Amino acid sequence: MDNSIEKIVSLCKRRGFIFQSSEIYGGFSAVYDYGPLGVELKNKISQIWWKEMTQNHENIVGLDSGILMHPKIWEASGHAGAFNDPLVDCKQCKARYRSDEFSDEPESNDWINTQCPKCGTTGNLTEPRQFNLMFKTHIGPVEESGMEAFLRPETAQGIYVNYQLIQGAMRLKIPFGIAQIGKAFRNEIVARNFIFRTREFEQMEMQYFVKPGNDDETMKQWKEERFRFYHERLGINKDQLRFHEHDKNELAHYAKEAWDIEYKFPFGWSEIEGVHNRTDFDLKRHQEFSGKNLSYFDQPNNERFLPYIIETSAGLNRMLLTVLVNAYWEDEENNRIVMRLHPELAPVKAVVCPLVKKDGLPEKTQKIMNMLKANFKVLYDQQGSIGKRYYRQDEAGTPFGITVDHQSLENDTVTIRQRDSQQQDRVSIDSITEKINDLTKRWSD
Ligand code: GAP
Repeated sequence: MDNSIEKIVSLCKRRGFIFQSSEIYGGFSAVYDYGPLGVELKNKISQIWWKEMTQNHENIVGLDSGILMHPKIWEASGHAGAFNDPLVDCKQCKARYRSDEFSDEPESNDWINTQCPKCGTTGNLTEPRQFNLMFKTHIGPVEESGMEAFLRPETAQGIYVNYQLIQGAMRLKIPFGIAQIGKAFRNEIVARNFIFRTREFEQMEMQYFVKPGNDDETMKQWKEERFRFYHERLGINKDQLRFHEHDKNELAHYAKEAWDIEYKFPFGWSEIEGVHNRTDFDLKRHQEFSGKNLSYFDQPNNERFLPYIIETSAGLNRMLLTVLVNAYWEDEENNRIVMRLHPELAPVKAVVCPLVKKDGLPEKTQKIMNMLKANFKVLYDQQGSIGKRYYRQDEAGTPFGITVDHQSLENDTVTIRQRDSQQQDRVSIDSITEKINDLTKRWSD
């Protein structure tokens, strides 16, 4: 693991963003729990995405479908057959690897003469074998006679199988979109790089239904729009973002064209979101497997067709990791670590501190807390020197520090400290909210 990711992992634990799952039992690999600051940050990111999709676009509506669905859905989608990773086992030490870890062309690799990275023996690796990434479970009290079911590996299928109901209920006309945020599960073999690749994660997917023939143009528009989102809405540095187009060997079984939005993580350029032209592949397959006509009736033109689908598919956890990596800053001049989170995203908007624990300052501070609580997530802190209190919050990404001192008792003013510049301004208590809103708006200028 790269050094800087290790630093972020350590900060996340120290400040209550993210913990290894089941830590007191020695940990549970590739699953993470989001602590008090992590859940706030994750919620903020998903709310921004949700608003961007369903509020800023009047033709995009939301859905929350089940994680468990009819098993036939996965046959139709191709995941039961094609959602596989070729794996290689070591007969000596039982280690298991993805075959592409050894070679870009595993089909032609000489496995007999390949060394096992774990035990170092040669001649013990098997030929690659297919391994399905879906988690299996059983519905019903008796495992043997129960129905086999799968935890969904993507949220998209819930949208496809509900699309006609939603279109009818909401009287949607093409083009329209359906957005969904929810958990997805994949039995990843090589789970690594902290929350980048995990076995349980959240997706934020939007499926946009268009008339066949309009798909290429729509694809272009969504590519641009999604790229802009990272820079404009999450404050991600543009130079650290790029597109990667899938060549024929990389394309998923459902896609005609696919682009990844990649971020330059400390471990290299890696995908954070995919924009895919899935054509009518999924609807055609569900029509075939369910026996239901899934065509759309275009009234003005009096014609029926299966819509094409442009998908934007983002991982919420990867987006959060992007935000964390992008924000991490070692301010050597002042010997502090700062999470320069966009104030719109910061888990806590302001820490509110009495300068000292006496002279009526805590009581005055509490009153200010109660006033601010209605608009912002604020935190009270009276432990330690004021400098230490600020530095703790710098690591947590809290953009503002409000200090109540003896002057506050005399003229109802406080100081507001800005996290990144450490600039402090004295403002009247009545204008704290306005000042915070103003600084938040101007943050990215
Ligand atoms: N519906 C299309 C689809 O699922 P994908 O490229 O397999 O496409 C989309 O996944 C996004 O989901 C990825 O860009 C990534 O952000 C996220 N994702 C996929 N697998 C993940 C994993 N194991 N851990 C965390 N995020 C993952």
